[in-house]
Amino acid sequence: MIVILMARACNVHSNKEGVLLPAQRSIAMISEMIHTASLVHDEVIDDSDTRRGKNTINKLWGEKKAILAGDFILSAASMALARIGNNTVVSVLSQVIEDLVRGEFMQLGSKENENERFKHYLEKTFKKTASLIANSCKAVSILVNSDPEVHEIAYQYGRNVGIAFQLVDDVLDFTSCANRLGKPSAADLKLGLATGPVLFACQQFPELHAMIMRRFSSDGDVDRAWQYVLKVRRICVVYRQVNLMKTCPGAAFIKH
Ligand code: IPE
Ligand code: MG
Ligand code: MG
Repeated sequence: MIVILMARACNVHSNKEGVLLPAQRSIAMISEMIHTASLVHDEVIDDSDTRRGKNTINKLWGEKKAILAGDFILSAASMALARIGNNTVVSVLSQVIEDLVRGEFMQLGSKENENERFKHYLEKTFKKTASLIANSCKAVSILVNSDPEVHEIAYQYGRNVGIAFQLVDDVLDFTSCANRLGKPSAADLKLGLATGPVLFACQQFPELHAMIMRRFSSDGDVDRAWQYVLKVRRICVVYRQVNLMKTCPGAAFIKH
């Protein structure tokens, strides 16, 4: 939907009607297919058994078939991409597949240096999640407009939406439940992943550093890290209430 809306915006901007070009519609479909394939593979990497409230392919038919099914979707997407017949668009969308794999690889490693850690996390987040939206938005703009500045604006829009999406997804892993998410919650720490909430908590609780480096693998690490993140969350809520009440006394009701 984001890609279709970006295509319409680019078309209107180029003084054409908002109506989608067939190639732009194809890009939206290809983008969805790459996304679906990445999830089918991600369930294997994360050993996850539900998605959108349903059993995952790996849970139903095992990992081998899930990997092959993901590959099959990617091959169908590649054929659809070739049919568009635009070399620049082929290269822009092929970059997404490379980034997805690099992003998942980056997630398997941790940085010793705390300053590098957040940078590494954001770069991983861009590659794993945002590159797809950024490059898909760019591809639909290329098809209708030859101005590189417009391509860059479309790309940056997708990049920011994509990074924001993954940051929120990482927070929801701590704050929501499996019923609402339609997939397991509280999963990232168990997978050894230090996402945004843990990295922020580490600034206040340096004890988390050693746990991050051993990927929460010692007994009790997951529970302790969880408690630290919740403590930061409570502190944030209190700060927000105090700030709100300073600027807007009527907000005192938030306390209740
Ligand atoms: C989802 O990543 C898959 C990709 C973005 C490639 P996550 O593992 O972080 O997300 P969920 O929690 O399974 O949806
Ligand atoms: Mg994952
Ligand atoms: Mg996952």
